[in-house]
Amino acid sequence: MKNISYLRVSVTDRCNFRCKYCMPEGVKEFIPHPEILRYEEISLIVKAFSKLGVDSVRLTGGEPLVRKGIESFISDLSQIDGISDISLTTNGYFLSEKASLLKEAGLKRVNVSIDTLDPEKFSFITGSSKSSLFRVIDGVLAAIEANLNPVKVNTVLIKGFNDSEIEEFVKFSDEFQVEVRFIELMPVGGKFFSQENFIPISEIREKIEAIYGPLEPYKNYKKGPAKSFKVSGTKAVIGFIPSISEHFCHECNRVRLTSDGKLRLCLMSDKEINLKEIIRSPDFSFDKLLNTLKGALLLKCKVNGIEALESLGCSRKMFTIGG
Ligand code: GTP
Ligand code: 5AD
Ligand code: SF4
Repeated sequence: MKNISYLRVSVTDRCNFRCKYCMPEGVKEFIPHPEILRYEEISLIVKAFSKLGVDSVRLTGGEPLVRKGIESFISDLSQIDGISDISLTTNGYFLSEKASLLKEAGLKRVNVSIDTLDPEKFSFITGSSKSSLFRVIDGVLAAIEANLNPVKVNTVLIKGFNDSEIEEFVKFSDEFQVEVRFIELMPVGGKFFSQENFIPISEIREKIEAIYGPLEPYKNYKKGPAKSFKVSGTKAVIGFIPSISEHFCHECNRVRLTSDGKLRLCLMSDKEINLKEIIRSPDFSFDKLLNTLKGALLLKCKVNGIEALESLGCSRKMFTIGG
């Protein structure tokens, strides 16, 4: 059986942004409230996973900070035996006001999405106002200040959109001492994705090395999809997430829980197990939940995301999975 130590929990499919590669334009329908797992239900599932070797939980969305009561939920999660690492992936919009509360609640670290450093382009890609970029950067600074370490920035690569800003992102990393991770665009999300928008990581690496010389491998904080490098002559640390060009399915250590209670064995495969049905059934027992999870983790070994994507495609949109 694979060693699954990392659970990604999408706490909501709602978001205050509308990133073009994530949420198709005009999305108005979200999962109805009664279908969304209550915090106590998620905690129960996390508790069961902790008995099976999961020690890290990453909260995602939509945008996790739009869900009310997230701080006390984090505090509850941090009380669960065996859960030693709670992290969050956010668009950063609410981070400046929430960073220190999140830290107090037990959050360890955050990843913040910033796809461009140009306010106008930021407004275009996220469907928000131009000033949002400054608010998000303030959020990154607040997270650093609150010691939510390491703070990392996620940049989804989009041809003709942000490939001219690679050097600016290296400088951003150098100046703010945050790792910037370049992510290959995945065909899960809005209509925005097309082959013409795709940039392989190799192209970005060449661009950076042409300016700064060879990249030096840098310790990775935890086993994950990113490979990190130091940029010579600077304090910048750059990460690459080559989801498409270099599949990391064979070394995958993670599963996902969607906000409507489905256990998803892989980001790109539609193989899902309905946990909500189990925990809401009248004959629920913790042992039954544990056995279902054990069975699911055995199935996980047979899933290969890229093969699944190529054969059947992924029917969920990114905002309902959480990346
Ligand atoms: P840490 O390693 O804990 O920092 O988290 P992370 O980098 O996995 O999390 P984050 O939410 O910041 O995701 C960054 C990017 O990696 C997103 O585009 C995710 O969709 C992608 N990603 C995360 N896990 C997987 C995975 O298992 N498979 C693939 N293909 N992509 C993933
Ligand atoms: N391809 C690659 N990354 C994506 N994300 C959202 N949609 C996509 C996509 N289609 C990223 C977000 C966020 C993380 C959770 O996933 O930018 O940083
Ligand atoms: Fe919202 Fe994140 Fe999707 Fe953008 S990528 S629409 S910020 S969930």
